Amino acid sequence: MRKIFDETRINGMTLANRLVRSATWEGMCEEDGRPSPKLAVYYANLARGGAGLLVTGYTFIRPDGRQLPGQMGIHSGFADQMRALTRAVHGEGGKICLQLVHCGGQSSARVTGTRPVAPSAIEAKQFPELPAELPLADIEALVRLFGEGAARAREFGFDAVQLHAAHGYLINQFLSPLTNRREDAYGGSMERRCRFLLECYRSTRHAVGKDFPVLVKLNGADNLEGGLQPDDALFAARALDEEGVDAIEVSGGTPASGEETPVRQGIDRREQEAYNLPLAARIKNGVGCPVMVVGGFRTFELVEGVIRREEADYVALARPLIREPHLPRRWEEGNEARARCISCNGCFKPGLKEGGIYCVVDKIERESRGVAI
Ligand SMILES: Cc1cc2nc3c(=O)[nH]c(=O)nc-3n(C[C@H](O)[C@H](O)[C@H](O)COP(=O)(O)O)c2cc1C
Ligand code: SF4
Repeated sequence: MRKIFDETRINGMTLANRLVRSATWEGMCEEDGRPSPKLAVYYANLARGGAGLLVTGYTFIRPDGRQLPGQMGIHSGFADQMRALTRAVHGEGGKICLQLVHCGGQSSARVTGTRPVAPSAIEAKQFPELPAELPLADIEALVRLFGEGAARAREFGFDAVQLHAAHGYLINQFLSPLTNRREDAYGGSMERRCRFLLECYRSTRHAVGKDFPVLVKLNGADNLEGGLQPDDALFAARALDEEGVDAIEVSGGTPASGEETPVRQGIDRREQEAYNLPLAARIKNGVGCPVMVVGGFRTFELVEGVIRREEADYVALARPLIREPHLPRRWEEGNEARARCISCNGCFKPGLKEGGIYCVVDKIERESRGVAI
């Protein structure tokens, strides 16, 4: 019977358990995207906390694809800081996967100083402003840059890469009929809307070789009228599986998806947890590669049941590990109490204003108990 703390392998990468730290922007990089020493300490602590795999915050492949301050970039000039980061994780016995992104129409002109680009020049609720349509030559350049970023990640000591094809960012924008109105080979049918994703995947695979894990974070649905639907997501997942992807992490929603965004708030009851599980289980049934599921997991028994019933192969956590970086270790040691995160999303603010995310609720509680932090 499958268990949370099984040791597993993904394309040669050995993972100590089935818990993944899902990608989480920390806002701890320099203005140019260079990781800070503070970030290396943050990751070392996460690794000590026991998650089998840590996925980094979304890392831009080109500066015009940035969204938030303190976001990481994957440039050749950052070799020393990147190596320090991967060494910090390996020193604690952890594994680290770099998440690659271009934010497309969700990029922030305030951060980049340039007009965002997207598959089509259309207004969309998820876009802060009207983006410019990507010309074919630039699509080709971006495909190449995903590969180059992945090759650097391997060179810098990362154990895997993950393409961010979820949450309304550029690859997701190509997949969604709402944001992709192109009439060329990249738009129209689902097959054509999948083309950019598959070209990015192939470019990445070519750059890192067969023996290096390439993962994809995919929306099981955009939870948005006219956006990516579950059948389309299954089509994309199957296409990736046929290409040889090493694992798919299933999420759902975009910033425009109302109460069904990727980062839902107020998960107080068991029924509100695991909100992407039906989408993930559907994809799990349709593919052969390992499937990870993320979104609202807070209860040990629920995580344990998902693994035991093989509804997914891995469970990924983001906010619970901001509040309790050592939650996997705690569960493994037998304290199976619910994760203490109350899903308020208060942790974003210090990432924007104070040079790095942390759990504001934890801070208030500690201060009220007079504990120094
Ligand atoms: C502060 C913060 C930053 C995030 N940054 C990313 C990111 O860089 N890439 C990504 O794919 N998801 C990002 N997410 C979404 C998480 O990976 C995850 O999908 C979501 O929070 C739901 O999981 P949870 O309920 O375990 O937090 C972020 C979430 C939070 C709270
Ligand atoms: S501030 Fe703390 S409790 Fe609130 S979502 Fe973030 S980690 Fe969870």
